[in-house]
Amino acid sequence: MKIPPVKGTRDFYPPDMARRNWIIDGWKKVSVRNGFEEYDGPIFEYLKMFQIKSGDEIVEQLFSLKDRGGRELAIRPEITPTLARMVNQQINSLARPIKWFSVPRLCRAERPQKGRLREFFQWNIDIIGVDDVLADAEVIFTACDYLQEVGLTPDDVMVKISSREMLAALLQTAGIAKSELEPLYTVLDKRSKVAAEAFEEMLAEQVGDKDKRDKIIDLMAVESLEQIGDCLQLSEKAEESVDELKRLFELVEIMGIADFCVFDIGIVRGLAYYTGIVYEIYDRESGLRAIGGGGRYDDLLKQFGGPAIPATGFGIGDCVLAILLEEKGLLDKQLSSPQPDYFVAFTDKQFFQKAIELTAKLRTKGFAANFDYKSANLSKQLKQASAQNVKKCVIIGSEFENNELVIKDMTTGKQELVDYDEFLAQCIELK
Ligand code: HAM
Repeated sequence: MKIPPVKGTRDFYPPDMARRNWIIDGWKKVSVRNGFEEYDGPIFEYLKMFQIKSGDEIVEQLFSLKDRGGRELAIRPEITPTLARMVNQQINSLARPIKWFSVPRLCRAERPQKGRLREFFQWNIDIIGVDDVLADAEVIFTACDYLQEVGLTPDDVMVKISSREMLAALLQTAGIAKSELEPLYTVLDKRSKVAAEAFEEMLAEQVGDKDKRDKIIDLMAVESLEQIGDCLQLSEKAEESVDELKRLFELVEIMGIADFCVFDIGIVRGLAYYTGIVYEIYDRESGLRAIGGGGRYDDLLKQFGGPAIPATGFGIGDCVLAILLEEKGLLDKQLSSPQPDYFVAFTDKQFFQKAIELTAKLRTKGFAANFDYKSANLSKQLKQASAQNVKKCVIIGSEFENNELVIKDMTTGKQELVDYDEFLAQCIELK
């Protein structure tokens, strides 16, 4: 009986694994140079943790289970609640600002489609303890730093930025009650993801009054920060949020990433815990789903039983990113295949055991070394060595009677006769 892989999951054969590692190594490298430290948590948590503030959509997508004691658990669909829990747990001993990153494996029971699977990896960057838009600019910079690191330019990708705080103030001016905001965000988040009629239907379900609906539709058509005042009277709160956004755009200019950044009032975010600046990263041409997204979530730690500490961060998944990199020819080009240091070959079966012994010795000295399992003839072994792209071949043959080996440099083809013990001693020195 053949058992297929579970829908929405991936098998990582070695070439796929090399790609995955290349993406993740880049995430880690960029995190570290931007001053972030790595953390991780368990892959499952209590179910209720994701029900507190992540929002209905993610709760519907949970893979949940009961442990033997009947406790309700869920596989993590995101790591932000875990981060909030972990930070709260040690809040008094952690030096602030907390700048942490993580690369969790996550599961969401989504309908699998291009760029969306049921299991994926997600790069998370978060700054906790900074109540300044500079922290938002820094996380956006870190995302752009990675995008540039892998060869993507402002012609390929853009960071669409807005503010939930601003939107809340504007919607309240348009007559929406505070208590109606959260379900409305879910509808507004769908605006660019569904057809116009479907969006209007969803909006009508949420907002009965046509006058209010028209105001919302006009507001969502605004294309620049300057235009907002023409559409609705700005309350003090709305003005403060507009000023904060303007400062963010100044900061990204100073940081040299302004070409990546655009204002887009339609960015609302699907998750419920965002409170201020929000943004999503998209490709400019292919119309793929979001590459990543994030924003400020100043209330989440408090909602998880801790003190009120401001926080901001983002998540970038590996799926859409890999599709885009592949489309742009930026993925395979950068992957170099591993190059073993040695291939230990032998001219005759009588030296087979010696070859195994020497390979083992080289490996324990820290070299990547291989040998042939089949005791094939020398030319076949050398072919294998070339196919494996090894740097040098060690050949054990009749010279071994005098405790000598032939070393062949596979790049230059040059061969030299060396003493076995001296060769090993030299290897130790080299490492
Ligand atoms: P999110 O928008 O739910 O945010 O996910 C961020 C990114 O993760 C998405 O833009 C996408 O690249 C990737 N992603 C999400 N779901 C899937 C899926 N089913 N398959 C493949 N990729 C997926 C969050 O998760 C927030 N916790 C991010 C954050 C961190 N906010 C603050 N700090």
